[in-house]
Amino acid sequence: MILVTGASGTVGKAVLNEVARSGAKHKAMYRSADEAVKAPTGTQTVITDFAKKETLAATLRDVDSVYLVCSPIPDLVQLESNMIEACLAAGVKHIVLNSALGAGDYAKSFPSWHRKVEDKLKSTGLPFTILRPNSFHQNVVTYFAPSIRAQGVFYSSMGNAKTSYLDVRDIAAVAAKALAGGEHSGKTYELNGPEPLTYAALAEKISKHAGRPVQYADIPAEARRNAMLDQGMPAWQVDALLDLQDYYTSGNGGTVDQLLPTLLGRQPITMDRFLAEFAGEFRSQAASA
Ligand SMILES: NC(=O)c1ccc[n+]([C@@H]2O[C@H](COP(=O)([O-])OP(=O)(O)OC[C@H]3O[C@@H](n4cnc5c(N)ncnc54)[C@H](OP(=O)(O)O)[C@@H]3O)[C@@H](O)[C@H]2O)c1
Repeated sequence: MILVTGASGTVGKAVLNEVARSGAKHKAMYRSADEAVKAPTGTQTVITDFAKKETLAATLRDVDSVYLVCSPIPDLVQLESNMIEACLAAGVKHIVLNSALGAGDYAKSFPSWHRKVEDKLKSTGLPFTILRPNSFHQNVVTYFAPSIRAQGVFYSSMGNAKTSYLDVRDIAAVAAKALAGGEHSGKTYELNGPEPLTYAALAEKISKHAGRPVQYADIPAEARRNAMLDQGMPAWQVDALLDLQDYYTSGNGGTVDQLLPTLLGRQPITMDRFLAEFAGEFRSQAASA
């Protein structure tokens, strides 16, 4: 039996869909009943929280493999460590951990938190597979679509840095294979997408697919910091995002290699395919009405 945690989240939901489609025996973990009702038909659900340590043994009953993911929050290290300890106690045979690009060599921001969990997992001796993905295609909708819809512009401080975006559905396909263990056991996979894109090149692609002019506005990092704080984002998150941006602007986000296509056994989903599918997200409400 496979347990998919974070089943309401961006990547966890995609992993659940992939596992459910595969026909493997599985259950999905949620924190709220409102989200659990959205599980695919036939998926057994369990509602709990990594913080509620006393509930985790029941959640893990009959479970052999766990896909472990948590939101990028400061408590991530403690929360995922709780689950790893519960897995060890419950005799789970394999954990697929959703980490992040940079966990191998960047001692700041989200990657440093993920690295602590990776080290914790390895210290237990539990069989594992670690996935360290680059930025998700889905971030483009989450973070850039609102100002694109309103103003035809998205803002950041990435300069000419490149990012090899990948689709969470491709991460999910790799996770589903890794949950079976086998050749993937003991492996750490750094997952990059098929094309290194500057934000200016990304703006051109969004324009093409949305059928309207879209521009990327490069702003100083301090202006970005102030804009995020003005929007009400907590200081820890603003610091983590800007530190992560330093990692990408230092040239670490634009790698393209053959690992993802090899693991998938097909070509990965491109940014063009993603944008064609979600083009409506970038049109103004008036234009799409
Ligand atoms: N975005 C990227 O480009 C990117 C790239 C590389 C790596 N990552 C990493 O990928 C991970 C997942 O990202 P995402 O965008 O899928 O995050 P997400 O949408 O926030 O999903 C996180 C999931 O974790 C669950 N969760 C949060 N706190 C929990 C708790 N205390 N107990 C149990 N479950 C809990 C959430 O449940 P609720 O819905 O109830 O909150 C949600 O289902 C993050 O750790 C991030 O650092 C992201």
